[in-house]
Amino acid sequence: MTLRGRNILLAVCGSIAAYKAAFIVRLLKKQGAEVRVIMTPSALGFITPLTLSVLSEYPVYHSFTEDENGSWNNHVDMALWADLLLIAPASENTIGKMVNGICDNLVLSVYFSAKCPVYVCPAMDLDMYKHFSTQENILKLKEHGVKIIDAEFGELASGLVGQGRLAEPEHIVEFLTQQIGSDAPLASRKMLITAGPTYEAIDPVRFIGNHSSGKMGIALAIQAWKMGADVTLVCGPIQEQLLKNIPAGIQIHKVVSAEQMLEAVTAGITNQHIAIFAAAVADYTPEEVSPIKLKKAEDSFTIRLKKNPDIALICGQNKKADQLFVGFALETNDEEINALKKMNAKNFDAIVLNSLNDAGAGFAGDTNKVTIYSKNKDAVVTAVQSKDIVAKEILTYLLSL
Ligand code: PMT
Repeated sequence: MTLRGRNILLAVCGSIAAYKAAFIVRLLKKQGAEVRVIMTPSALGFITPLTLSVLSEYPVYHSFTEDENGSWNNHVDMALWADLLLIAPASENTIGKMVNGICDNLVLSVYFSAKCPVYVCPAMDLDMYKHFSTQENILKLKEHGVKIIDAEFGELASGLVGQGRLAEPEHIVEFLTQQIGSDAPLASRKMLITAGPTYEAIDPVRFIGNHSSGKMGIALAIQAWKMGADVTLVCGPIQEQLLKNIPAGIQIHKVVSAEQMLEAVTAGITNQHIAIFAAAVADYTPEEVSPIKLKKAEDSFTIRLKKNPDIALICGQNKKADQLFVGFALETNDEEINALKKMNAKNFDAIVLNSLNDAGAGFAGDTNKVTIYSKNKDAVVTAVQSKDIVAKEILTYLLSL
């Protein structure tokens, strides 16, 4: 079980146990979760936002607005981003306010906006913890579906010994993994994915390219990573913004031309269990690249092209028995015949056909509709769906091979 790809929002309250938030962030990140942190104003006295920001790799918010520019820290967006809100340590004060609808800081406003499961880890001195009002408040939270990760027994900051210590970070993370962790069907599988177009230079300012955005390949890489795979993405020139959303655990090799993509793919292909060739590689490249910008002169203009290496074909010819290779085909006519031809010629185990005749399918957009063929199984047709969902369906199909 793993927390890979889960969005966890950690809310830290004022308690000496706040220092343990640093360990919680570390452990959640090790599990592959995306972690963001918010704090109550009194938590600032126990641990700095900087520490938690460095560890989580995201800005840490603790007020409704940013002092420097007065901009609003949108608590609704934060709550909606989270797959899970973890309040740890949760102080007596915050627990009381959660029960009584008091919303006087960012953490509480996120809690009251949250639709995701909420986990509360109380931490306070033993007499505070035993107090009837604390126990009644905890009970009320439970009755309303909030999960409590109970305080543990042991030595407390006051020197007293009893129940009240924040649950150990390892116990908190173990608990969450049991509750919301998912199986990682591709754990310990190494996967290489090609994505995007290639650009073939004509001169320093012009190139031959195509409309591939890289979105389909990136969706496959992210979904495969969420399913536990160790993913390498070899990516042609695409918008930088798309690369920003890729989890840090995915290794990215940026290339421009087919020749460079071949080099990056062949350098790593022998160790891979699975390779998915989703890139739209230019079949031809200019025989010569002008070192200076070509000038407009004659009415017509000819560029001689030579064939690019076929990356998938070269890899397919050297495929080992325990490797699974999958190609893509974007077709405009005789779709099935063309896709199956490519599957056989390039020694793919499966091929994913997207047809430009299907609305919402193919390059550039956020959706796709595909038919997946393989040598040994019936073909599967997906509906028009987001590329993320299509990617999940492709990977689920591959798992069945
Ligand atoms: O990037 P998006 O905007 O999200 O769009 C996704 C996509 C439509 C580009 C993608 O889903 C897709 O269909 N990619 C393959 C495009 C295609 O038709 O490729 P092809 O028929 O030229 O090649 C067939 C297979 O061989 C592909 O797996 C391709 O990656 C591979 N190939 C092709 C030529 C070459 N020189 N080297 C290769 O590896």
